Formats: sequence, structure tokens, C-alpha cells
Amino acid sequence: MTLEFSFVSAPAAEADADVVVVPVFESGLPTAASASVDAASGGALRRLLESGDASAKLGQVARLFALPGVRAPRVLLLGLGEPEKLDAGRYLRAATEAGKALRIGPAKRAASYLTEVDVPGRDAHWRMRHAALAAQFHAYRYTATLKAKNGNGGASSVAFAGVPNDAALREAAAIGAGMAFARELGNLPPNICTPAYVADQARGIARDTGSSIEVLDREQMQALGMGSLLGVAQGSAHPPYLIVLRHSGGGDRRPYVIVGKGITFDSGGISIKPGAGMEEMKFDMMGGATVLGTFLAVAALKLPINLVAIVPAVENMPDGNAYRPSDIVRTMSGQTVEVINTDAEGRLILCDALTYAERFQPEALVDVATLTGACVIALGKHAHGLMSRDDDLAAELLAAGDATGDRAWRMPLWDEYQQQLESAFADMANVGGKSAGAITAACFLARYTEGQRWAHLDIAGTAWDEGRKGMATGRPVPLLVQWLLGRASA
Ligand code: BES
Ligand code: MN
Ligand code: ZN
Repeated sequence: MTLEFSFVSAPAAEADADVVVVPVFESGLPTAASASVDAASGGALRRLLESGDASAKLGQVARLFALPGVRAPRVLLLGLGEPEKLDAGRYLRAATEAGKALRIGPAKRAASYLTEVDVPGRDAHWRMRHAALAAQFHAYRYTATLKAKNGNGGASSVAFAGVPNDAALREAAAIGAGMAFARELGNLPPNICTPAYVADQARGIARDTGSSIEVLDREQMQALGMGSLLGVAQGSAHPPYLIVLRHSGGGDRRPYVIVGKGITFDSGGISIKPGAGMEEMKFDMMGGATVLGTFLAVAALKLPINLVAIVPAVENMPDGNAYRPSDIVRTMSGQTVEVINTDAEGRLILCDALTYAERFQPEALVDVATLTGACVIALGKHAHGLMSRDDDLAAELLAAGDATGDRAWRMPLWDEYQQQLESAFADMANVGGKSAGAITAACFLARYTEGQRWAHLDIAGTAWDEGRKGMATGRPVPLLVQWLLGRASA
């Protein structure tokens, strides 16, 4: 559900809302909002905290009802912990807990005073954008394939305290919509979310934003010589598509080009994966989904840049017609690849998409992919893996991740690793052995981006929450949109 955002100027005790979010510090140091509610209620807030019935520890939420003297019937006390410890990360944690709390219950119209609290090193714009984005993130519900839609609870609007900042709320809405788009595509099962479905969704984005789109089919890709992408696709009953979306806001300047891995289901192919956990491979298109979500946000914000989003949408299946280990495919670049493992399919579709991207003469080229299990081992679920030979581009992306709490961590991409890809029968093998798996995957892609200002984001650990109830996260849409916002104003 899309939240409506606005501003509130009244003191917390006088806010006209179904629920007010009131931040409190552990030390007893009042915030403007807690002082307002405490005074209006004759000290009720202070007594609740002193008695231990409510806690101001970071991330704690206490729901209070019908406080005397307070206009709103409900108060959500939001713990910020100790004032001297408050930083960007802890603010985001509090915003997340507030977002989760607002998702539950009958209150429709919320007013949040979290945005009034100072955060060292961050400005009011940042505070408002991230409070709003956290609320929007938690308003998302997956219902598409559920009988009980139970999607009616929770807030439908949030007003924020502090100096009104339209740009911050516009950005939050756009990033939130981009993330929701990506998450929905990821959460949908692979019998619905096929390559054709992804292409249709991209057409929807083009229609809704007035952008241009081209969807290449198998014959067109054959004509371009995309033997590697088509090799992966040949075992699936679902035909592959190459989606190309274009946003033109930057006149005749070079475009930023983002490329996302769109494997709608990764069975591993003939090198089939073990059964346990294979269902999670419906999320193997999250690189593509987040590239589309980023495009949606950038187009909605009408950023004054040119942006091209490219998504190779392919299913990786075993079949009598499937590609097999020891097959050699010819990529669009002319280089040949010995397929050692059909489960290393992501790089095989990306290499042709990256070669295709060259025709746009990118200002910078960034690919996003759930590429390797090795990246999950290296970095877990908190950081994307970032590889680039371009220090400036790497720094820009790292900074955008830090600014949004959607962080990446750089790994080396030294030439020494390249030898792991050697093959006696082709220009390279598609796997590099068991050491440094995330890096050798990036090394493979590096062979298709020579001369480009290119970076690779491995989102295998960050794209979804693991486990039976795990859902797509929508990351790295915040990082990418932040980066492009920065490029637009550079
Ligand atoms: N989509 C997977 C990578 C993956 C695995 C993402 C687990 C998230 C969680 C990718 O296509 C793959 O199978 N990679 C192989 C590469 C190997 C065969 C060199 C891997 O990581 O095991
Ligand atoms: Mn695979
Ligand atoms: Zn894969």
C-alpha cells in the first residue's frame, strides 16, 4: 500500500491524528514531542518511564491509549536509547520499529515526531526522507497469491513534524515505490513471474512514466550473436527476453546504464542444485527487479539524467535441450566460454547484456546480480559485494550506500585472480574454482567491460531475507537511486 505523506506543525499533544509517534530518550532528556505529551498529560509519560512500564531503550515501542490531555487517542512511545549514542544507524533502527508498529492496528492517520530529533552528521532532509521511507517499506504487504487479503490494518497516511521538506517526501515516495515494485516481482512465484511477465511489467513502467522501451526476443538476440545468454535459456519452456528501458532527462549527455540479472528461476540446470532451499532461487531475478525499481524511481522523480536499464530475463532449467557442462558458447563479444557448471548462469546472461550496453556509450555502467553463494559467505546479509577497477565510481557507490543505510563493501578485482578462469578449450571457463568465488565471478564480467567505467554489485546475500517466510528486500534500490540523485546534481 502506498502511504500518503504530509507535514504536521502542531505540538505532539495537539496533533489531529489517530496515532502520534513520540520519540523518547533513555536518560530522561526530553524531546520536544515527549515534553509536549508529558506536560499535557500531567506527567503521565515520565511516570510510565520511571515505573518501568514503558522503556526508552533503542527500538522499544510502547502503545499508550487515551492519555489525558492528548488530542490523539493513541501514542506510540518510540525508544531512542541514550542520547549521546544516537547516530544514523540507530535513527534508522528507530524509524524501522516505528514503521513496523504503524503497520498494525486500526489507526489510519499517523503523525510522527521522530523527524524532530537531531542526528549527528545528518540533516533534516535525511531524517524526513528516511522516516518516511521506513514507514513506506513496512506498509508493503504481499497478497497476490493469498486467499485472505487481510490488507486493511495499519496506517494509510503519515504526517511528519519539523520543517516541511517536499523533496524529502517525494524521494521517499519514489524510492519506496521502486522498492515495492521490485519486492513484488521477487516475491511472486516463478510460475507467474516468468521472463515474459517481467517484460510486461517493464512495459507497464514505460507506459506509466512515458519512457521508451524495447524488448528483444530470441530471434533478435540470435541476430546479435548472444550465444551465451541463449545457451542458458535453451533448457526452459519460457522464452528469454532482453528488456531495455530508456529515460531521457539529460539532453545529449551520456547515459548511466544499469544492468540487472533476471533469472526468474535458477534450478542450476544440468548441474542441478540440491533440493533444500531451491525454492529461494525464485529470487534470482532481484538484480533485474531492483534495476527496474530504480528506473521507476528515477523516472518518477524526473531526474535530469539519461538512464538506460537493461534486464536479461531468462529461466535456468534442466531439459533434453538444455546446455550442458563442457558445452562451449560464443558470446556477443566474440569470446568463447567453456561451460564447466551450468549453475554459474548469471555471468553467462550478464556478459551478453554488458556487451549490448556498450552501444549506449555509458557514462558509467553498473550491474546488479544475485551472483554467488560465495558472496553470502563473505559478507552475509548486511552488505552488498562491490567490485570495480574504477576507484571514483566505487567511492560514489559506497558513499551512496552509506548515505542510505543500504551499504556495500568493496572486494578486490585484481588481475591475479583472472588465471582461475583459464580453459584449454575456450577463451575462458565460466567458473574459477572454489576460492574467491565472488571475485572470480566479477573477473568473468570484467572481461566483457574492458574500457568501460564499470562496477558490479553482488546482492546474493542482501536481496531477500532467508528462510520460509523470507521476502525480497528491495535492496539496492536506495543505494542506486541515491547514487543517481547525486549524479543528477553533480
Ligand atoms: N543464483 C546463484 C547464486 C546464489 C546462491 C545466490 C545462493 C543467492 C544464494 C548463482 O547462479 C549460482 O548458482 N552460483 C554458483 C556459482 C558456482 C557454480 C561457481 C554458486 O554460487 O554456487
Ligand atoms: Mn546458478
Ligand atoms: Zn543464479
